[in-house]
Amino acid sequence: MFILRLLSAIFLTKSVVSDVEITCPPNEVLFPCNCDSEVAVIMCDIKDAEICNIENITSKISEVVQNKSVHFELAIGGVKLTKLKEKSLGSVLYSRIAIIDTGLKSIHKNVFSHTSHVTYYIDLEGNHLKNDVFDALRSLPTLTYINLSRNKLTVIPSHAFRHTNGQFQSRLRVILLTQNDIHTISGHAFFYLPHVSHLDISENELDLIGDQAFDFDDIPIGRQIHLTIDLAKNKLHSNSFNEKTLANIHRPVKLKIASNNFTHLSESIFKPFLYKHENNSIDVEANPLYCDCSSLWLHRNMHIYRNKVLNHVCKDNRILWSYNHSEFNNCDNSFFL
Ligand SMILES: *[C@@H]1O[C@H](CO)[C@@H](O)[C@H](O)[C@H]1NC(C)=O
Ligand SMILES: *[C@@H]1O[C@H](CO)[C@@H](O)[C@H](O)[C@H]1NC(C)=O
Ligand SMILES: *[C@@H]1O[C@H](CO)[C@@H](O)[C@H](O)[C@H]1NC(C)=O
Ligand SMILES: *[C@@H]1O[C@H](CO)[C@@H](O)[C@H](O)[C@H]1NC(C)=O
Ligand SMILES: *[C@@H]1O[C@H](CO)[C@@H](O)[C@H](O)[C@H]1NC(C)=O
Ligand SMILES: *[C@@H]1O[C@H](CO)[C@@H](O)[C@H](O)[C@H]1NC(C)=O
Repeated sequence: MFILRLLSAIFLTKSVVSDVEITCPPNEVLFPCNCDSEVAVIMCDIKDAEICNIENITSKISEVVQNKSVHFELAIGGVKLTKLKEKSLGSVLYSRIAIIDTGLKSIHKNVFSHTSHVTYYIDLEGNHLKNDVFDALRSLPTLTYINLSRNKLTVIPSHAFRHTNGQFQSRLRVILLTQNDIHTISGHAFFYLPHVSHLDISENELDLIGDQAFDFDDIPIGRQIHLTIDLAKNKLHSNSFNEKTLANIHRPVKLKIASNNFTHLSESIFKPFLYKHENNSIDVEANPLYCDCSSLWLHRNMHIYRNKVLNHVCKDNRILWSYNHSEFNNCDNSFFL
């Protein structure tokens, strides 16, 4: 029921109808899927259905489409589908693809090659996908939205969003990787990507962020785009970042590290980051922060930092900004961390 609602919300609200006419094959031969030629939607969401023979279904649809440029939307939810083979999606063009909660484990790296220049939205949440999914996604240069939440990813590979021919997925705006088992973000994982505005890696297993994990190319369009990086609910702590980790993002950033294990924010790492752009900020809600001398650098310049360091609640449940300056009297002014 949930899946049905989700998929309907995504797809059936569509009002733009293709001017190329096709007639879908009858739904009896497409079970457990159905095809709507009015809105060009293929939907497979019959709960408890047998294994979905997707090749069979897409080949029947390919026959009626022939080589007309109809842009379908494909929504598969709840039915069992463990593998997408090279020809599984047939020779059909898909503008949006959602395959949700199916148990999908592997995707052939060329499965999207026929539709590669058309697909701009892909939602593969709630499957059992591993790191090799990036090889398949790399073939989609016009993607703007990727949802890989609730899968089995462990590593975001280097240049994860760059095709082997060098082309970047430069239109990407949203990348959602929440609720995986990601422990490593490789160097330059998100490099280039001038339009990306939302990067959600919350609820994973990150405890160290490598030097170049968040290195972005410095390009004029990118410098204008406000980027939110959500790292909430990982295993991050005060030594998870170093001086290089946040140094090369080259655009305004809202960094969220809520619900981790930070005891303090190191001045040498976060001061340059917060100064780098007037709109850079960091949300530290629900961390076991000690408001001792390690927080003096923030407290001393709270007129600058109180709008940039959000939810800085200390272990004693007081907000850092409510401390009296005299409580830091014992701190040696040359205290550094
Ligand atoms: C495809 O589906 C039809 C029924 O619509 C069935 O008769 C046929 O055996 C299926 N082919 C494969 C390869 O599963
Ligand atoms: C596909 O399109 C080509 C021209 O682009 C045309 O010559 C050919 O007949 C079409 N094939 C089918 C099966 O419609
Ligand atoms: C995509 O992922 C998020 C989690 O980041 C989830 O809450 C959402 O429902 C997903 N699907 C869509 C269509 O946004
Ligand atoms: C947080 O860090 C402390 C040591 O600094 C450690 O004992 C504790 O297990 C950590 N908690 C989590 C949830 O990782
Ligand atoms: C910072 O954000 C505000 C409000 O969103 C915006 O008006 C302003 O232009 C931003 N500053 C820069 C330098 O982008
Ligand atoms: C802060 O500390 C100073 C000096 O120790 C004291 O005079 C002042 O009353 C304190 N302010 C508050 C609000 O507690």
